[in-house]
Amino acid sequence: MTLTRDTYSDAGHAVDLALFGALGDLARGKLWPALYQLDRQGLLDPATRILALSHHDGDTTVLRERVAGFLEAGLKEDERDAESCNRFLDRLAYRVIDFTRSADYAAVAEWRRAEQGERPLVVYPAVGARLYGAICAGLAQSDSLGERDRIVVEKPVGHDLASSRAVNDALGAVFPESRIYRIDHYLGKETVQNLMALRFANPLFGNQWNQSHISHVEITVAEEVGIAGRWSYFDRAGQLRDMVQNHLLQLLCLVAMDPPSSLDADAIRDEKVKVLKTLGPLTPEALARNVVRGQYRAGTCNGRPVPGYREEAGADSDSHTETFVALKTEVANWRWAGVPFYLRTGKRLPQKLSRIVIHFRRQPHYIFDPDQRCLASNKLIIRLQPDEGIALQVLTKDSGLEKGMRLRTGPLHLDFNSAFPEARIPDAYERLLLEVMKGRQSLFVRRDEVEHAWRWCEQLLDHWQNLDTPPGRYPAGSWGPVASAALMTRDGRSWYEESGDE
Ligand code: BG6
Repeated sequence: MTLTRDTYSDAGHAVDLALFGALGDLARGKLWPALYQLDRQGLLDPATRILALSHHDGDTTVLRERVAGFLEAGLKEDERDAESCNRFLDRLAYRVIDFTRSADYAAVAEWRRAEQGERPLVVYPAVGARLYGAICAGLAQSDSLGERDRIVVEKPVGHDLASSRAVNDALGAVFPESRIYRIDHYLGKETVQNLMALRFANPLFGNQWNQSHISHVEITVAEEVGIAGRWSYFDRAGQLRDMVQNHLLQLLCLVAMDPPSSLDADAIRDEKVKVLKTLGPLTPEALARNVVRGQYRAGTCNGRPVPGYREEAGADSDSHTETFVALKTEVANWRWAGVPFYLRTGKRLPQKLSRIVIHFRRQPHYIFDPDQRCLASNKLIIRLQPDEGIALQVLTKDSGLEKGMRLRTGPLHLDFNSAFPEARIPDAYERLLLEVMKGRQSLFVRRDEVEHAWRWCEQLLDHWQNLDTPPGRYPAGSWGPVASAALMTRDGRSWYEESGDE
């Protein structure tokens, strides 16, 4: 789906957006640039207004100056222009608010009344989840909410199953599920959307997408950055809560789910929930054997020496928090029985890269050079970022008379940047914000999805909590602890970058 005016008519979707935490990191880095880009592309309804809320002193003029600064810092020169910047800044208003003081919410009600119009309110608390309850209650008490109003919340929803239920209860006390938009920004990425198109629009793949044809699946979300100054958040969370509970399990669901009956939000989310339910319990043996956690020590990333996790600013030198997780799991149903899913994610790995590799089974009977038997399998490589694209590794005859019937592997490439050079790949937040304004929930995570994902992850969290041993250490700039490679080699396999096919 391309983000253009053809697919997204901009008429009739005006909203009042109340952005709490308007000067925080998420707003600066993601939300203001995304909102501006939508406006610049003509995808924000002319009547849409934005109220920025934070506890910092200031007024609308100061806010506009600050947002102009965020856009300048966050966007390249060819991604902005003075005319559309001014038009965008004109939409903004600012109010100082203490999120925990219910009296302060009158400012939101007053702002809404100040201009006539039938716009639904989109509430975006770009703040910690501990404030969601206060914000919902404050808005409800101040009579700022109507029947079409909605709320957008970020991951992580809670810290474990119990706390996620508490957060969901607080949201649910004010908003019905049909008006709660839980963001997992991976669902807004262009290539993640493409995964659905690839699977469900192409019979070629649709018919092969099961245990008869696929031997195993690997999903890697690697980051070169460390914890980037976020010690206090990250050390409480760790890589399992930060990445696996949400982004990696969502990717797994999109790979493994059965075809939904339509693109409706609940049709898609019902299928994802079924996958989460079939992830099933992890036995003590499986936890010990199939789960690897790691923590980076000092090393070299991109030719530059970098400190270890325990030497980061503000660090606790005894921390057992994991910065790397690799695991093997199975989706216990008819489609996937016996097909291992290998998941891996970590900070301070050699490069930023998100990739899904579908490994197809070998031919049942092999007739070519016995020495080349190890070549004989197809792989579908889906590059989510960077260099978004899809490659299908196929076997062909090596050319030349002297080669006889020797085989070689080669990729059939679909590189999005070169295939669609005129298309700009939008940031995930642009798509997600637009979907909220349109009132479409299919790219957002339903309460039961979050809770099933926590239920499964808690098995790992509980197991680690009872361990005295620290996570395996790996040098920054490597692909994680040796045990991660062993997870594959034990099964006679290797992670894609070690297969020599790149
Ligand atoms: C966030 C995590 O959800 O995703 C971060 O909290 C992580 O720790 C980020 O760096 C990765 O997102 P992306 O889009 O850069 O792959």
